[in-house]
Amino acid sequence: MRENLYLIGFMGSGKSTVARELQMAHGMKLVEMDEQIAEDAGMSIPDIFATRGEAAFREMETELLREIGRGANTVISCGGGVPMRPENVELMKKSGKIVLLTAKPETVLARVKNDENRPLLKGRKTTEGISELMEQRRPAYEAASDFSVPVDGRSAAEIAEEILRRL
Ligand code: S3P
Repeated sequence: MRENLYLIGFMGSGKSTVARELQMAHGMKLVEMDEQIAEDAGMSIPDIFATRGEAAFREMETELLREIGRGANTVISCGGGVPMRPENVELMKKSGKIVLLTAKPETVLARVKNDENRPLLKGRKTTEGISELMEQRRPAYEAASDFSVPVDGRSAAEIAEEILRRL
């Protein structure tokens, strides 16, 4: 049984798409954290942020990681904020490998510009707004990951193959 594979990275870096590729083409089980949390809570991510607050959402992420850590052979598409909590990084390290997907701010912007599902991007949909948050997060992302893979201009299949080769 293979250990878990945690995909981390900024919003719009392609974690969900690459995770789906690993599920479809490589037979791994898949957990999409945002989807799972929304399903468990019975409401969308923006509604969780609006009614319960970000701190409650972060608790839900940690709780879900505890549960995921009990399983194996699963690819997990992590929410972009997951590596910002040391406790989350510990939980991931204990049960798998952590791979960072990196994308240029321009790539992220093109992918998220019409998306209303990410509360933290509200008022930030410019290259500068995205770069600023990306730079704040970069040190934690890099420290958490076993290795990183650039995504700009590459297909999900290519990225998935590189990940599996380097694991
Ligand atoms: C967040 C990223 C989102 C979602 C929430 C907060 C973040 O997930 O968990 O909106 O803090 O970066 P994606 O990275 O899947 O967009």
